[in-house]
This record gives sequence, structure tokens and C-alpha cells, in this order.
Amino acid sequence: MPFSFDLDITRASTIPARLYNDPVYLDLELGQIFARTWQLVGRTAQLVETGAYITAEIANESIVIVRDGEVLRGYHNICLHRAGPVAQGCGKRQTMQCRYHGWTYNLRGELVRAPEMEGTAHFTPGDFKLLPVQVATWGPLVFANLDLKAPPLEHFIEDIPAACARFGAERMQFVMSREWRIDCNWKVYVDNYLEGYHVAVVHPGLHKELDVDHYVVEPHRYYSRQFAPLRPVAPHATDRKYIPREGDDEAHYYWVYPNWMLNIYQGQLQTNVVLPIDHRTTLVRFDWYALTPPAEHDPDWARVVDFSFEIQDEDIAICEAVQRNLRSRVYDRGRYSATKENGVHHFHSLLHEWLT
Ligand code: FES
Ligand SMILES: [Fe+2]
Repeated sequence: MPFSFDLDITRASTIPARLYNDPVYLDLELGQIFARTWQLVGRTAQLVETGAYITAEIANESIVIVRDGEVLRGYHNICLHRAGPVAQGCGKRQTMQCRYHGWTYNLRGELVRAPEMEGTAHFTPGDFKLLPVQVATWGPLVFANLDLKAPPLEHFIEDIPAACARFGAERMQFVMSREWRIDCNWKVYVDNYLEGYHVAVVHPGLHKELDVDHYVVEPHRYYSRQFAPLRPVAPHATDRKYIPREGDDEAHYYWVYPNWMLNIYQGQLQTNVVLPIDHRTTLVRFDWYALTPPAEHDPDWARVVDFSFEIQDEDIAICEAVQRNLRSRVYDRGRYSATKENGVHHFHSLLHEWLT
């Protein structure tokens, strides 16, 4: 199970191919990583009024998050009777009633009604409380962490909120979302996100927009930031997708360990969540936010979103091809570009740290 890893990128080899192929590693990752880190699970706009709730899944655990006055509360979505679900989908309820035998919990997670339990010895409903999970928010985003001992969200995202303040990210509103099911291990998708090295070959269209010579990847403890200045627009150019604007001439891409991203450019915030379905299948969900939600058929918005679909299709094609080759009998590990793949090396060093 353990694997060797060199923290010096100039000497390191990439992680072994079996980490992408063997379902044993996904089980390990779910327990050691996904069950111990902050996961992006929803939007604050879904949880405005008391009783509004959402459900989500983290590391194969179902959870429910509910608004109770000023606070958001999070619980395992598991009834303490015989493990039925206490909430489904999303909506608004003043209590959570189990769908199996009707045990009912208030928003503080306390069991308030358990029908036909009168003959049961030493049974006091007040002793039963839904098992909690941690909840946090930043701007429009809601996060949960199964691990009650995990450090707060700020420990992982550090100065990202401060760095995003100039884009107004905290005030942005949800516009739309889209999902892709991709035939690759979740780490193949994350690896690919973490470098601009492939832009010239995989994304010819994007390559025309970004000044890749000045593409920077800046790893921090639990996140990395990628900056790419936009290329200046030649006078009368008609083929540009991104038009640099005053004070908004950069694209910022943040990846936060282990599996979510924030992409900020052109007045948009886009979140990506990378969810393993199994060891070779991944669900990627994009949510778009904007300071002022665009009018229907806004041509500027459509141009930028269509372009992100084009880039995503290019990334999916290469990720699926890589996954097929990682299953080969002859390939195991490669080497990193010390100047271009520091973000990938950083991710792999965190995997090594948390898995071994
Ligand atoms: S499992 Fe919830 S009431 Fe029986
Ligand atoms: Fe890409």
C-alpha cells in the first residue's frame, strides 16, 4: 500500500499508476482524505430561511445541512433507530422525520417524537441526538467536514477570501450549473487542472487568450493558485474570447485540497467539484456565479461559458486517454517538469502525506 515519494520535485517521480487503477486506493482516499477535509456541498442561497435544508454525500456518507435561525447545522442523515434517512433531496421542514418509522428530530438534531416506544425499557427520546458534522460558509458557498476534529475551513483556504475580495467573489450570485461524468480517476482530472503545461498542446483556443509564458503556479499548504495574464488584444482583433477589461485582466484559478476549485475571470466565479463515483469514473460539477446575474441570452456571458465548455471537452478527452494508458502493463511512473508541474507535485505530496 505505501509508496515512495520525493519531496524534491527535481528528483521526484510521479505517483504509481496503481493509485489511479486499484479500487483499494479509492477506499483509502475516501476514509483518509474525503472524510477529513472540507467539501463544497451547496450554496448559502439554498439555506436562507429557518428549516431550509440540503442533503449531500461525502465519502459515501449521507449528510443533511439545515438552517436554524442564525446558524447552519449539519448532521449525518442517519436515524438513530434503524438507520433510515431523516431528510431527502432539499426543501424546507421545521422537523426532520425519518422516512422509515417516523422518528422525528428538531432542527437541533434532538429526537422529539418516537411513536409506539412506550414499552421499551430505559428509553428516553432526549438521549438521542443526530450525529453532527462540521459546517462552514464562505460567500455564496456551503462546506461540510465529516471530521469533528478537523481544523476550520480557514486553515485550508487561508488568504483566498482576501485575494478574491477585489473580484467581489463573496457577493456573487448563482447563475447556472452543469455536470460531466468522466471516465477517469478523480486524481487524473485534478492533476490535469494543476498545470498550464498542457495548454499549448491541448487547448489551442485558450493558448491564444493566455500569456502562457507568464503562467504561474503558486502552491500553499493546502491550496494552489494559478495566475495567467490575458494576452493583450491586437487592435481590431475579432477572434478573442476574453476581452481584457480595466482591473480585470487576469484569470485566477484556485485548487483547494483535495477536490474543489475556484476559477475567477471576466466577472465570473466558477466552482468545480471533482467527485469520485468509483476508481475510474468521476463526476465533475461546475457552478457559475456572477456579481450581476446576466440577462437571458447575454452574448458576453454565452461566449465565455461556451468557451469554458470547449476547454472542458478538450480536458475530458485527454484525461480519458490518460486513464486508459495508466492501465497499461508497461507504464508505472513518470517525471515532473520542475518549472511547470510544481502544482501537480504539491498535490501528490499531500496525497503521500495523507495516505501513508
Ligand atoms: S429507522 Fe428511523 S424511525 Fe425507524
Ligand atoms: Fe486543461
